[in-house]
Amino acid sequence: MKIKESLSFDDVLLLPQYSDINSRAEVDLSSPMKNLTFGIPIISSPMDTVTEEAMSLAMLRHGGLGIIHRYNTIREQSSHVANMRDIFESNSSSNINKIAAALPAGGDLIERSSALYDSGARIFCLDIAHGHHSLMKVAIETLKQKYSESITLIAGNVATPEAFNDLSTWGADAIRVGIGGGSICSTRIQTGHGQPTFQSILDCRDAADALIIADGGIKNSGDIVKSLAAGADFVMLGSALAGTKESPGDVFVSKTGVTSKIYRGMASVEAQVAWRGQARSLEGISTTIKYKGSVSKILKDLVQNVKSGLSYTGSRNISEFQARAKFTKQTSAGQFESKTHILST
Ligand code: XMP
Repeated sequence: MKIKESLSFDDVLLLPQYSDINSRAEVDLSSPMKNLTFGIPIISSPMDTVTEEAMSLAMLRHGGLGIIHRYNTIREQSSHVANMRDIFESNSSSNINKIAAALPAGGDLIERSSALYDSGARIFCLDIAHGHHSLMKVAIETLKQKYSESITLIAGNVATPEAFNDLSTWGADAIRVGIGGGSICSTRIQTGHGQPTFQSILDCRDAADALIIADGGIKNSGDIVKSLAAGADFVMLGSALAGTKESPGDVFVSKTGVTSKIYRGMASVEAQVAWRGQARSLEGISTTIKYKGSVSKILKDLVQNVKSGLSYTGSRNISEFQARAKFTKQTSAGQFESKTHILST
């Protein structure tokens, strides 16, 4: 059996190139999704410690997107959507078509999608761990048949071009790429399956027409820049946006005196017990993270750093960047040098 080599974000760096960009203001990070345009290519994960109403509103305000998670009752999820719709109606905002909600591929898909659509959701995210699945095919076809072009459809997760092509053919507009790479994931430990997210993006970049949403293991702005260069149209962030004022959950002081919030995988014991009363297959963990304050500051910093990233390649927008970007692979000595290391001697 021939075994392919798979690269992670930390295995690679982008080569700096000639630039005539004088200011980060010259760099445009906008990214289209079907007939919508987003000012920044960042999406918050549909997780119960990341995205409900407050995070979705903040993400939209900054030009990104937040997907309201599905680990609640239909009534709860719909009320988040309806509250957002009411805010935008009163403002006749262009964000009215950017209210996004996650859905299961089976279970209460039909009732949940109807209630969410009636409440104002126009972006649906079919959200399952192994998206290359017969259930996904039926779910995409069902939603497409019912709502046709009035919705934008995100589906996932996948790790291979075969899966990416299938979901695209079935009707997905954008596909979450990355299996097992998330900071709270234990899928690879439990099941032995997955692929480094960076490699999955590279593998899917020349696949079908659907957009790529890089998802899982994006630790910092450098990983966002590498994701975009590798071919992603958007990145999805969990841990980077968790622990903020806008993420769901209480702020508490940990035993060590640190002001904290919970961040947990949706397949962790804690999350499963909370949403379905019992834990079955465990593929995630729950953890506490230091409270970070408002997500605005985090997004502003990420955006500035990503703009700097594009300027190192002399690129003024994402498509120019993808055409110009050149990666180099680094050795373990290079990886060591790439981190701050002054205290390590
Ligand atoms: P980061 O690294 O941004 O990853 O924190 C967030 C992504 O992780 C996925 N996710 C899970 N994957 N078990 C998994 O294997 C889980 O319990 C779990 N919960 C979330 C999801 O794709 C999310 O966007």
